[in-house]
Amino acid sequence: MKSNPTLTLSEEEMKAYGYKVVDTIVEHFKNQHKKDPVFNASRQEMDSIFLEQAPEQGKDSSEVLDFVVENVLEATDILSHPKSYSFVPGPSNYISAMADTLATGFNIFSGGWVNAPAAAELEIVTINWLLKLFKFPTKKGGGIFTSGGSMANLTALVTARRQKCGDDFSKAVIYLSDQTHSSNIKAIRTIGFRKEQIRIIPTDIEFKLSINKLKNVIAKDRLEGLQPFCLIGTAGATNTGTVDPLVAMSKICKEEDIWFHVDAAYGGASILAKNGHQLLKGIQKADSITVDPHKWFFQPYEMGCLLVRNHKWLSKTFTEKPEYLRDIEGNTSEINFYDHGIQLTRRFRALKFYMSIKTFGLQSFREAIDYSINLAEKTESYLRKSSNWEIVSPATLGIINFRFNPITKQLPEKELDELNQKISQEIINSKEAMLVTTVLQKQIVLRMCLINPRTTFKDVKQTLEKCVAFGKELTK
Ligand SMILES: Cc1ncc(COP(=O)(O)O)c(C=O)c1O
Repeated sequence: MKSNPTLTLSEEEMKAYGYKVVDTIVEHFKNQHKKDPVFNASRQEMDSIFLEQAPEQGKDSSEVLDFVVENVLEATDILSHPKSYSFVPGPSNYISAMADTLATGFNIFSGGWVNAPAAAELEIVTINWLLKLFKFPTKKGGGIFTSGGSMANLTALVTARRQKCGDDFSKAVIYLSDQTHSSNIKAIRTIGFRKEQIRIIPTDIEFKLSINKLKNVIAKDRLEGLQPFCLIGTAGATNTGTVDPLVAMSKICKEEDIWFHVDAAYGGASILAKNGHQLLKGIQKADSITVDPHKWFFQPYEMGCLLVRNHKWLSKTFTEKPEYLRDIEGNTSEINFYDHGIQLTRRFRALKFYMSIKTFGLQSFREAIDYSINLAEKTESYLRKSSNWEIVSPATLGIINFRFNPITKQLPEKELDELNQKISQEIINSKEAMLVTTVLQKQIVLRMCLINPRTTFKDVKQTLEKCVAFGKELTK
């Protein structure tokens, strides 16, 4: 292709290219359940396909597109596959995928009000929907969409530190549990806390943060002249779906003047369940909440969200006033989201959330969440009826942990660990399902996170039957 210094295509070329892209995405949505959810390749294999110098001369656009469709888009695990049970899957939805395409196509700058007032307004409106769901104050409260849960937690902790410690955080101490997601520790370390400023509180038999132990540690820190400043609770632990005792934790925070952050990155969406406020009891008492639309709110990557009880906490933490942004400051009711978080240039994330909720209605989301919660409970009952399985942590917010442990075999712990690790490996090798292990109370267990509304009980049963077949073969 000859040089194209304006980087443009003709209208016909753009349409032909775009239609092909859409056709490819539609084909994926239609047929992904028939594909393998697992993909593996070594660096060497990938190098052999892709490694080259940046080409000085361009190629025909459809040739490049075909190459990418064939070699890139299929060379991946499919985290929205109905049999993708591991990590926190990303079920996504087509409307939001198209909304992201629109936002990218128009290359909307979602940083300042003046540049894109409707984008800022949609972020305000959709954040308000979330505030209302979590019973946070809608007038005073606020929030921001981030790239994901890690960035939302980071934004929360920077805000908490600013509010509680100002510039001197040398004596500040932060509390979390052994089940808190690792992104929180990463954030704490990123913003400069030393290891000695972090207290990992053990969890109880149900994987909930132990209130008694928390109280003891805080008391000891006070006696030593330290400053307890932040407590992180979890609403939907990544391992088990467990919700910490949020009411008791919030009470301690109030008494001790400690910031209460709740990481509900995956579990927060269960606020939409029939008994959502019971499941996440106390979440409304937090100072800040992380909730990720790109998890159980079915949005494509990347979309996390931080909600705060008072939007001024964000602007007080993140506002800088450089001379080159003077002319777009606007007035205070017109939010510049670059003043509410770390990013200046931001993509227009609110659009996908807005369009998918407007299109499907909140009721569809509510039913999808209830479906997942019920599916995990149905799976638990199914497993309990068999003498092959042991439940290690019961169905909670769509997550269940179990292990192959046939009563007749009476296998020692070490062998059980090896056996379940091997079953997982066999399943992955078969590529039929993505089912990895985790470790709970020192036991290697199989973990299913059933938040895809397109996963059927039949899918789950097929995978479990395959596990049993592998298990029997391995213990013959
Ligand atoms: C509870 C919890 N917090 C935070 C995160 C990190 O979110 P992200 O991967 O979007 O950065 C996860 C990811 O699974 C999570 O489960």
